[in-house]
Amino acid sequence: MFSEVKNVKFNNGLEMPMVGLGTYSRKAEPGQFRQAVEWAIELGYRHIDTASSYKNEVEVGEGIANKINEGLVKREDLFVTNKLWNDSHAKDAVVETLKESLRKMKLDYLDLYLIHWPISVNANGVDTAISYLESWKGMEEAVKQGLAKSIGVSNFNEKQIQELCDNAAIKPVVNQIEISPTLTQHPLVNLCRKLSVIPVAYTPLGLISEARPEFIGKDAIKTDAKLGEIAKKYGKTRAQIALRYLIQREIPVIPKSFTKSRIEENLNVFDFELAEEEMAIVDGYNINHRCVPGKSFEKYTYYPF
Ligand SMILES: NC(=O)c1ccc[n+]([C@@H]2O[C@H](COP(=O)([O-])OP(=O)(O)OC[C@H]3O[C@@H](n4cnc5c(N)ncnc54)[C@H](OP(=O)(O)O)[C@@H]3O)[C@@H](O)[C@H]2O)c1
Repeated sequence: MFSEVKNVKFNNGLEMPMVGLGTYSRKAEPGQFRQAVEWAIELGYRHIDTASSYKNEVEVGEGIANKINEGLVKREDLFVTNKLWNDSHAKDAVVETLKESLRKMKLDYLDLYLIHWPISVNANGVDTAISYLESWKGMEEAVKQGLAKSIGVSNFNEKQIQELCDNAAIKPVVNQIEISPTLTQHPLVNLCRKLSVIPVAYTPLGLISEARPEFIGKDAIKTDAKLGEIAKKYGKTRAQIALRYLIQREIPVIPKSFTKSRIEENLNVFDFELAEEEMAIVDGYNINHRCVPGKSFEKYTYYPF
């Protein structure tokens, strides 16, 4: 049905499929996360992205277990990512927090565990300014105990990823950051490459996503005729062109959808190639616009943006 989904190779030799299912949603009906995961695996996804803060670990784990129990996939065929929330950054809290996520997901290990944000808070949301270098020692312990095969970070800026790489005994394999045609992030992507850290694109559809009516007026990418022509030429949608643009920059993507046809569409981006001038057109939609500015963290010591 699909041309083969490509993998990226980490600095530790392990690999990750370049398209994964994102699972964050502000609103969800009971069972919707489980259903999306099941459809995704049926349609050929082998990479699922979640986080303890998404409050869906039980359902995501059920979706995975159902497909394993049906014999469709084995655990080792899947790549599962989870993330450490900001309230568990103390070095000694990391392994226990990861174990709790594994219990909820009914898994023995994660393929990838990320520090979700560089900032740290206590249970009341007050800044505790625990250095991510300290949290990283807990992340390294998780690898030593076999609980996570690889570890990485998310939402780290240039200074933070450089500092972490300079100090880590086990190097981070990825920095999961917002990247899309409207937030191209070339400087941070280039630095990650120099450090052998894979940049992974969250919110890869950026302003194409219909869930963001609040950005009307900034979303020329949804209506611009040039992009329409490119999409028509390849028989693809605007969303697929955006994802393909990222993949051709060798950036893995984790689009989220609850809609079966879109879950299918988002994986179906390996049977065509954008020409150099088409890549430049898509790149030209950049307006450095963050859909996820983390505004509520703005006053914190390690706020990255
Ligand atoms: N590390 C972090 O701090 C962080 C932050 C944000 C996100 N993430 C991760 O990245 C994932 C993706 O980011 P996101 O969910 O913010 O944004 P996104 O994947 O760019 O967009 C999701 C939205 O786009 C719609 N959509 C999906 N496929 C589409 C298509 N082919 N055509 C048109 N619309 C489409 C979805 O609607 P329907 O569901 O209704 O189909 C949904 O409303 C998250 O789910 C999460 O796993 C991580």
